[in-house]
Amino acid sequence: MAGQESVDSRVGTASRLARGMRRFGPLAALALVLTVVLAGCGGMQVVQDQPFSTLTPKTQKANDIHGLYQIVFWASLVVFIVVQFAIAYAVLKFRRRSDERPAQIHGSRTAEMIWTIIPAVVLLIVFIPTARTIYDHAAAEDTADFEVDVYGKQWWWEVHYPDIPANEADADAGPLVTANEIMVPHGANVVFNLRSNNVIHSFWVPQLSGKLDVMPGHNNRLQFTADTIGEFYGECAEFCGGAHAWMRFKVLVVPQEEFDAWVAAMRQPPAADANPDTPDVAEVPASFAVCLVCHNIAGTNATIAKTGLSANPYSLGAGPDLTLLACRDTIAAGVLENTPQNMEQWLKHTDEVKDGVYMPNYYAQGQIDDAQVAELVEYLMSLKPAGGCPEDPPVGGDPTYETTNLVINEPVSEATPQANE
Ligand code: CUA
Repeated sequence: MAGQESVDSRVGTASRLARGMRRFGPLAALALVLTVVLAGCGGMQVVQDQPFSTLTPKTQKANDIHGLYQIVFWASLVVFIVVQFAIAYAVLKFRRRSDERPAQIHGSRTAEMIWTIIPAVVLLIVFIPTARTIYDHAAAEDTADFEVDVYGKQWWWEVHYPDIPANEADADAGPLVTANEIMVPHGANVVFNLRSNNVIHSFWVPQLSGKLDVMPGHNNRLQFTADTIGEFYGECAEFCGGAHAWMRFKVLVVPQEEFDAWVAAMRQPPAADANPDTPDVAEVPASFAVCLVCHNIAGTNATIAKTGLSANPYSLGAGPDLTLLACRDTIAAGVLENTPQNMEQWLKHTDEVKDGVYMPNYYAQGQIDDAQVAELVEYLMSLKPAGGCPEDPPVGGDPTYETTNLVINEPVSEATPQANE
C-alpha cells in the first residue's frame, strides 16, 4: 500500500537521522557552544569601545552594577551549557531504538527536589549581592553633597544647579541653568533630581549609573560619585514620543577649578560682540526676537523664557537655555555637530533635522530671511567665554587628563571705560 510505503520511508529517514545525530550530534553541540562563546567575546570587545557601554564602568556605583551583571551573566552561561548538554544527552540516550514504546516514567521525588533546590540557590546567589548594592547606594544618597535638577522635556534635557545662583550678586536671579551638557565637579557625590511634567522619560548614563525613570509628579533621585574625569554619553531610555531617539545628553566630569571657571563664565555676558544692532553685548540682536519666548542667554536681555516645570507641559514656550551655546558639542540634543553650517541647516530645516520638534521653522514661515539666519548663526556661534571654550575631557574618561584654557572675561561694566574719568 502506498500509505505503508510512505511510513516505511519516513521511519528509514528517521533512523538515518538518528545515526547521523549519534555520530555528529555531540560535535555539532560543541561547535554551537564554542561559536556562541567566541561571538560573545568578540562582541564584548566591540561594546567596550563604545561610550554607551555598561561594560566599562567609570564610577563605583556603575562598577557595583556591572559586578551584579557579571554574576547573572556567568550563572546564566553555566545554566545554558548544562541544560543544552542535558537535552543532548536525553535525546541520544533515550531515543526510540525499536518499534517498541520505551518505558514511561511519572514522578521522581529526587528530580523534583533537585530542580527546586538548584534554582533557589541560584536566586539567593543573585538576590543577596543585589539587595546589598541597592541598600549601599540608597545610603550614599543621604550623604550627597551636590544637587542637580534635571527636567525631561520633549525632546531635550534642562539642567538646573539649585545651589548655584545664576548671578552671584543677585540671589533672586534663580539657579544656574543649562541644557543637554551637564557639568559636574570631579569627586562630587551627586544627586540628580529627575522631574517631568510632560511624559515619562528615562535618564541613563551607562558608564556612570543605572537608568532611572523621569516621571511626571515625582522627584526621582539618582545618585553617584563622579569618580573619573571625562565626558560620558547619556540618552533617554524610555520611549517618550516622536523624537525619543534624539534626546541625548552628556555628563562632563571636570576638575573643581575648571567647574568653578565654567560657573563664572556662565554668569557673564557673551565675550564677543556679534550683535550688529548695538555695541552692547548684553543686548541680543533684533533677529533673535523670534527666539526670545523660548530661549534664555545669561548676561543678556534674553531672560523671559520659562524654565523648570512649565505651565504648558508639552514644552511650548520653553526651549534650551543658550548660554555659552558655542561651547556645546551638538545641536538639538545630539542630532547635529555644533558647527555654523549645521546651525544654518537647523534654523532653515528644523523639522527635517529633528522630526516632531516643537521649535517652529520661522524661516519656512517667512518670519526670518537668509540675512537674519546668517546673523543668528554668527551670533549663536559667538556665545563663548573670552578665552575660548574649554577643551572637552576625553570621552569615556582618562586619569591623565590635564585642566585646560578656560579664561573668564571681565564683567562688561568694569571693562567699559567711564566717559568722565
Ligand atoms: Cu525622553 Cu525618550
